[in-house]
Amino acid sequence: MRLIAGNWKMHKTASETEEYIKSFLKFVEHPESREILLCPPFTSLYIAGKLLEGTGVKLGAQNCHYEREGAFTGEISIPMLKELGCEYVIVGHSERRHIFGEDDELINRKLVACLEEGIRPILCVGEKLEDREAGMTFKVVETQVRLALSGLEEHTDRIDIAYEPVWAIGTGVPATPEDAVSVHRFIKELLKDINPKNEGRTRILYGGSVKPGNAGDFMKHSEIEGLLVGGASLDPESFAKIVYSF
Ligand code: PGA
Repeated sequence: MRLIAGNWKMHKTASETEEYIKSFLKFVEHPESREILLCPPFTSLYIAGKLLEGTGVKLGAQNCHYEREGAFTGEISIPMLKELGCEYVIVGHSERRHIFGEDDELINRKLVACLEEGIRPILCVGEKLEDREAGMTFKVVETQVRLALSGLEEHTDRIDIAYEPVWAIGTGVPATPEDAVSVHRFIKELLKDINPKNEGRTRILYGGSVKPGNAGDFMKHSEIEGLLVGGASLDPESFAKIVYSF
């Protein structure tokens, strides 16, 4: 089933989350034909978990720490997320990599922890503009995927991957669906190489300036197995249009 995920980033207080979800649920019919995921900030997860219980709309976090507990001031562990109802966690988002300095090794440790704890990670990968202009898109994506999955080669079916070109995130300039498709095909082939026993359960999502007006153009392609939506997921009606764009 294809996955449409909303990444709210650092937006919405708990009360704004409550208002959003009450409104969003009015738009959500037949959630069983697609998987819908909301990833609000940590402080909204409790109320979101309560409101989403039994609705079919799933809950995810935007980040996690790799240890279960300990002296890690300001961090949130996977057991904490699971108790609030999170089934997914976004790992290695471009803002974590480029603003907060997360490297491939840290991202790998987080993925290992996700699989040990039984939460499904959405690994984000994508090239910067200078990489694309230098013809390095596939090389950059390959390196990010291989390093993130190091030691997890047998478990590739237990993660999803979001291809999010950095230059497309929050810029209003999405990749063309054709460019996205070619990277998605490349990642699928790469997964087969990393794990020949891969059963194809890893969904490859596209993210970067997805809006109600272009979501359908991406979802027309079978290679695009879902969307990770930032800005356009902040309004319940706009996100619902994206959810039902295919
Ligand atoms: P955007 O963000 O939809 O606002 O471009 C996507 C993302 O960062 O996941």
